[in-house]
Amino acid sequence: MRATLIAGNWKMNGSLASNAGLLDDVRAGSGASRAQLAVCVPAPYLAQAQAALTGSAVAWGAQDLSVHDSGAYTGEVSAAMLGDFDCTYVIVGHSERRSYHGESDELVAQKTARALAARLVPIVCVGETLAEREQGATEAVVVRQLKPVLDAVGSDLAKIVVAYEPVWAIGTGKTATPEMAQQVHELIRATLAQRDAAAAQQVQILYGGSMKPDNAKDLLAMPDIDGGLIGGASLKAADFLAIAHAA
Ligand code: PGA
Repeated sequence: MRATLIAGNWKMNGSLASNAGLLDDVRAGSGASRAQLAVCVPAPYLAQAQAALTGSAVAWGAQDLSVHDSGAYTGEVSAAMLGDFDCTYVIVGHSERRSYHGESDELVAQKTARALAARLVPIVCVGETLAEREQGATEAVVVRQLKPVLDAVGSDLAKIVVAYEPVWAIGTGKTATPEMAQQVHELIRATLAQRDAAAAQQVQILYGGSMKPDNAKDLLAMPDIDGGLIGGASLKAADFLAIAHAA
């Protein structure tokens, strides 16, 4: 049985002052959750998350990492640096990185391998745009995005987490129906299984895109939806914990 993972993606939100209360509230409420919990915070707040969450049931992580190990890459943060703050997770290939920062499928795959080499768990995001869905290209896009990742991870497939995030559902309040999401999650698992059937059964596949307390239960009830990557609703402890409790 795969454990359910509810991971917050804070994106570029927060401050030292506002994070303090959010982290404390998530930590305090985490005991009642049977799901695994994690928060992926902006890099400058990793030390704060580490201090607030060490010894708790809540893991933490980052939202991106450099494909390079070290050197003249101004502004970049390496996998080893994330390791210095005891990160468990790092989000890789979020659609906002792909679209605003030009990250290609190949770069996302290389970053996934970097994360694994540093013993971080990559949460690899895939998903189609509205135009791609309307063209009937959802399956082709998701498989195209996954292929270089599968090539890069090789025998480490069981160590990754995949997040299906339809771009048209992110931050828009539009959620894929549980059936629509399940269909793509099933396709993702089948694509993984072509490489390694046993590993494919272990990989947690999260849904992301306007997951909220009121729709989480139905989404999480689907057989191949193993958790959520939560953006907006992860910024309020009560909402984030309500999603965790729905799991
Ligand atoms: P959302 O974001 O929950 O605000 O739609 C999810 C994500 O982008 O990871």
